[in-house]
Amino acid sequence: MQHEYQDILVSDIVSGVLTITLNRPEAYNALRTQLLSEMADVLDSAAQNDEIRAVVVTGNEKVFAAGADIKEMAALDAVGVLNDPRVGHWRRIAQFPKPLIAAVNGFALGGGCELVMHADIVIAGDNAQFGQPEINLGIIPGAGGTQRLLRTVGKSMAMQLVLSGEFITAAQARDFGLVSEVTIPERSLERANELARKIATKPPIAVRQAKEVLLKAYETTLDSGLSLERKAFTLLAATEDRNEGIAAFMEKRKPNFTGK
Ligand code: CAA
Repeated sequence: MQHEYQDILVSDIVSGVLTITLNRPEAYNALRTQLLSEMADVLDSAAQNDEIRAVVVTGNEKVFAAGADIKEMAALDAVGVLNDPRVGHWRRIAQFPKPLIAAVNGFALGGGCELVMHADIVIAGDNAQFGQPEINLGIIPGAGGTQRLLRTVGKSMAMQLVLSGEFITAAQARDFGLVSEVTIPERSLERANELARKIATKPPIAVRQAKEVLLKAYETTLDSGLSLERKAFTLLAATEDRNEGIAAFMEKRKPNFTGK
């Protein structure tokens, strides 16, 4: 069953996985404030719900999201942009502590591409197109696109995308590490769900620690990243799931993780 918000659809929890579908087809899923606020609210409550172990976000077969809502953005002057509530919604999305997996078909542009970069794993249909066309509007990416893109695809491709506004294909995005797998469009959501369901069976404290430590690699030195890894690794030695995982291996049986 799908729970209808104004701009997104939210599934029931299936095997530990919640699926969010961006649902403004008439506006190519443009990420207006309402949509980002609903998405951030759903992720905030998913973070608190132990039954939810991973979240999948997707669009439709033609478009993931065509970016910030240009019509909404047009009304903002500099003070409006400064005080834009979307900044806070993006921050809440970035802080979601559980795995977020994107299944992307069609256009992922501007804020849509930036939403892709907020996901931990990205599966793309072979019809996907990624780009940061903000330059054509006299602006630059404003939801982390300059920083996350450069850290993801390297300097030359980040510059190419941001300065020229050109799009890249799913295959190019995979070659540059923006996407981990490319499928036929009909399979991308199923594959994302498959991965999410698999992750949902893993020990949740270890999953959360892994996400936190991996994301730190974006923004810290090797030395402090390794130190954080060591601390997280040590902390996990105190969990029941670690004992269970090791015992199950020794006893040649499947582990039964409890999240403790
Ligand atoms: N905001 C608002 N509406 C949008 C939109 C957007 N970002 N993208 C598409 N739409 C709307 C169009 O206005 C159109 O609506 P109407 O029929 O009511 O006119 C509808 O969606 C379909 O769009 P097109 O007719 O343009 O469809 P197309 O197939 O010819 O082209 C497209 C598709 C290439 C995605 C084109 O719509 C496009 O270039 N969209 C804008 C992409 C863009 O510039 N994104 C960056 C936005 S700025 C940003 O994201 C800032 C940030 O970093 C946060």
